Amino acid sequence: MRTIIEPFRIKAVEPLRMIDEAERKELLKAAHYNLFNLRAEHVLIDLLTDSGTAAMSQEQWAQIMRGDESYAGAKSYYEMEDQVRSIFGYKHMLPTHQGRAAERILFSVVLRPGMVVPNNNHFDTTRANVEYQGAEAVDLVIDEGKVPSLDHPFKGNLDVGKLEALIRDKGREKIPLVMITVTNNSGGGQPVSMENIKAVSAVCRKHHIPLFFDACRFAENAYFIKLREKGYQDKTPLEIAREMFSHADGATMSAKKDALVNIGGFLTMNHDGWFQQCANLLILTEGFPTYGGLAGRDLAAIAQGLREVLDEDYLCYRIASVAYLGKHLEELGVPFVKPAGGHAIFVDARAWLDHLPPEQLPGQALSAALYEKGGIRSVEIGTVMFGHQDPKTGKEVPATMDLVRLAIPRRVYTQSHIDYVIEVFAELAKGRKKIRGLAFTYQPPFLRHFTARFKRL
Ligand code: F0G
Repeated sequence: MRTIIEPFRIKAVEPLRMIDEAERKELLKAAHYNLFNLRAEHVLIDLLTDSGTAAMSQEQWAQIMRGDESYAGAKSYYEMEDQVRSIFGYKHMLPTHQGRAAERILFSVVLRPGMVVPNNNHFDTTRANVEYQGAEAVDLVIDEGKVPSLDHPFKGNLDVGKLEALIRDKGREKIPLVMITVTNNSGGGQPVSMENIKAVSAVCRKHHIPLFFDACRFAENAYFIKLREKGYQDKTPLEIAREMFSHADGATMSAKKDALVNIGGFLTMNHDGWFQQCANLLILTEGFPTYGGLAGRDLAAIAQGLREVLDEDYLCYRIASVAYLGKHLEELGVPFVKPAGGHAIFVDARAWLDHLPPEQLPGQALSAALYEKGGIRSVEIGTVMFGHQDPKTGKEVPATMDLVRLAIPRRVYTQSHIDYVIEVFAELAKGRKKIRGLAFTYQPPFLRHFTARFKRL
């Protein structure tokens, strides 16, 4: 087979600044070993996130010029609404400035203290927004989804048995909605099968509980279904996405991922009563319902991004480029969550840096080493993000996994950038036992990974 090439050519370029290892060591120390504190200009290859980091297409930039900036009833709003409805199929849509705003508004309306939200895996902002309402965020991903080395085509699936048990245990009235995150970011960017979506939907319908998608990476999920699930090979990603959404009642969306834009999100649903209350809250904090905290041009760019993201050539390249990185890391013996995710590779830092116990934050330590060695910025998804300090003993309670995510921005880096990342891993592989652990010197009460500080042990 021929090389799967980037299905685009480049006509605007952004130079990268080359700095040396000694300078990077100083910069990281000054950043208290927290990569969120680095200036982006000091990063060579930025794999911190695939969120808001996509390169927009020429058609999206053209839409930026065409954006209608009217306060109410802008043409760009209706373009976005049409596009969202043609894929998601729900009755109502509210634009928001990003995904977490959609989450906060939805959860403010539907949650009360003591309630429970099941999900395959809540993303950190989703969990924080559930907990902020005094409710409990429960992760019900299948057991296979928790074993990094295990290969399984749909490791993001939600355990239907556990969901039934939770509903029985807590009572239906405590569970105002069930969520499925596609793809399952916190679980390794792993997809959810159509079969699983249908099964979860059936349980929800039986108990009259609305089902919502956290749909950030819905197009990547749809393409995985096409590649891996029987009966979907001949369907288009659009047909698959529509079928996915047909089994649920609404979705929160960060347009910064699979709508290929740098800012934006939306909340979409069928429920008239919830929608009305959400629209009222939107006006309070985001803006009038036809712009929701975004400029008209942002709405226009989202509409265009949604038209592009389900293109098969794009999705083929997208999934192949992440798999390419995975294949080469595999050859180097670097353990990661198998199979490669849709938007990222999640390196199993706990397994690779097995000389460091979880209390010494192997994920953060690997992230720091990747930056110092090669100027690569990644993000720890492990004890720093999901662990906590025991209030009685002050000891670190580790997360179930210590992963380092290498998230690939959409349409931004070429294969040679990825080859460079592989070379840096090859160099680290030689001296991995020398990578030292880290310890917290400061941590805030919630979402601690963003502002925590560390020292090297
Ligand atoms: N849900 C999931 C699954 C996410 O991955 C994110 C963001 C959000 C919700 C929130 O969306 O950032 O637009 O408010 N994930 C980014 C990431 C930040 O790096 O994975 P947002």
